[in-house]
Amino acid sequence: MKRLAASIALLLAACAPAARPAADAAPHVVGGDAVATGRYIALVGGCNDCHTAYYPDSNGETPEAEWLKGSPIGHYGPWGTTYPSNLRLVAASMDEDQWVETVSTARYRPPMPWYLLHQYNHADLRALYQYIRQLPGDPGVAMPTALPPAPTPPPTGPYYDYTHGGPPPPASAPPSP
Ligand code: HEC
Repeated sequence: MKRLAASIALLLAACAPAARPAADAAPHVVGGDAVATGRYIALVGGCNDCHTAYYPDSNGETPEAEWLKGSPIGHYGPWGTTYPSNLRLVAASMDEDQWVETVSTARYRPPMPWYLLHQYNHADLRALYQYIRQLPGDPGVAMPTALPPAPTPPPTGPYYDYTHGGPPPPASAPPSP
């Protein structure tokens, strides 16, 4: 009887979920290595769509040497005009732990889908960091500073216009950093 009780205790211990933070326990990408995994995440996570200039226009054929250097094309909307940051420089300005802490908690202006970054498994965020850090070649330059809300679009430079004929913004204003 004693042996049976011990076996049950062992079995229960084996079934108990590991005490890990949800962000680490959630599903995550299993790749060949961190860099290959990070590349895959950047690709299917759609980061290039905004953070690589004219990537959608190239049908996704922009050479990898140009990936994630940011885009000088403004995103003009009720939130002002935002410019997708140069993620190579952003990643280079922090270590891996700071990156995970920052992107899993920070809120940015539209159309940055920061709320999706909050859902990423931390292992995936680490792989993404390692991929970005090893990208070869010229890291590029910082993108323009965001402009405040304005009735007219930015006076210089190309921009995407989110104000034409769309629905009004929701009553609760989008978050700003
Ligand atoms: C729909 C466009 C869009 C997509 C897709 C997108 N971003 Fe962004 N991102 C932006 C814009 C615009 C900003 C600047 C926001 C601001 O100024 O507040 C930004 C800012 C950021 C920042 C803050 C950088 C800084 O300057 O501190 C990080 C980090 C970031 N994006 C990571 C990512 C990652 C990783 C992905 C892919 C998983 C991604 N973004 C996908 C548009 C986008």
